[in-house]
Amino acid sequence: MLVNGNPRRTIWPTSDGVVEIIDQTRLPHEFVTVRLENMRDAEHAIRSMQVRGAPLIGVTAAYGVALSMKHHASDAALKATCDMLVKARPTAVNLRWAVEHMREFLSPLPAVQRGEAAWNEAARMADQDVAINAAIGQCGLAIIREIHQRTRNTVNILTHCNAGWLATVDWGTALAPVYAAQVAGIPVHVWVDETRPRNQGASLTAWELAQQGVSHTVIVDNAGGHLMQHGLVDVAIVGTDRVTATGDVCNKIGTYLKALAAFDNGVPFYVAMPVSTLDWTLQDGVKEIPIEERGEEEVTHLSGLCDDGQIRRVRITPQGSKAANYGFDVTPARLVTGLITERGLVAANADAIRTLYDSPRP
Ligand code: MRU
Repeated sequence: MLVNGNPRRTIWPTSDGVVEIIDQTRLPHEFVTVRLENMRDAEHAIRSMQVRGAPLIGVTAAYGVALSMKHHASDAALKATCDMLVKARPTAVNLRWAVEHMREFLSPLPAVQRGEAAWNEAARMADQDVAINAAIGQCGLAIIREIHQRTRNTVNILTHCNAGWLATVDWGTALAPVYAAQVAGIPVHVWVDETRPRNQGASLTAWELAQQGVSHTVIVDNAGGHLMQHGLVDVAIVGTDRVTATGDVCNKIGTYLKALAAFDNGVPFYVAMPVSTLDWTLQDGVKEIPIEERGEEEVTHLSGLCDDGQIRRVRITPQGSKAANYGFDVTPARLVTGLITERGLVAANADAIRTLYDSPRP
């Protein structure tokens, strides 16, 4: 997608054999790129959320394995690399999926071949992510088009967190249908939940929509229910970090409350999901999905651009008040209207999800 009018991806190999990323902790006020020169850099980028969003975390980890294999390609090095990367963040299953894929792909190869093979495989996974998200966009476009044909009005879409192109290699998941609608000439407007505590909506979703020229409005996280009661939301589309085999959806904290409000107001609530985000091993999302708990300071402090042009961090809670910081929650399948995937739209239930197992890839 576009940055200052120029097409970019979120991660790319450089001519001197390392990887570059956009440092998402610096957006929206600064556009800074960072070189990942080794596996530790990749692990740090994931852990510190320089890169975030389930699909991008997965591709970054794949490149992390490739950076490691350039120098140390023994069985022991492969194991140590994969074991370290997989622990960088707990909730997004794409991380495990990507690391385990690299482990299985590289294990049978002689060590001498692993460096080049890993690099090519990581690049293939990045390209595949782009193709998958483009297909998700086309699948979700049909939903937006149907609403537009029915209402003959701008389609108002509510989204939570950032599941746009910044969360993937390109296009995004939840925002891919929005970009596809823009290309198709359908008028759209996005309600952007700010998404406390890290404000991925306010800082990342708003930034990328502005860069693409998509009409949008940032709202506080608690506004969604009110907007739905007043008929100002046609459809909610969110991304996801892990979906169980039964259709329970784990996504950024606060998603569940939006799904409840959507259910109460008859607003369709869709989840955009690459099939790699399915965790076939899980049945009950609330009981089984590990929820990342992050540092208190993400709740007790905020940082932003001050009027004097300086970026500063300020405390917003009383000194001494404790804070809890759960990163994700689980929306039960019964609240989900459908799963928008690269293999088509499916209901959020075990029977429908099973059909994704052997349906063709884009
Ligand atoms: O903590 P983050 O920023 O990695 O959380 C990201 C989200 O919750 C996204 O909505 C989800 O990963 C889907 S990204 C396509």
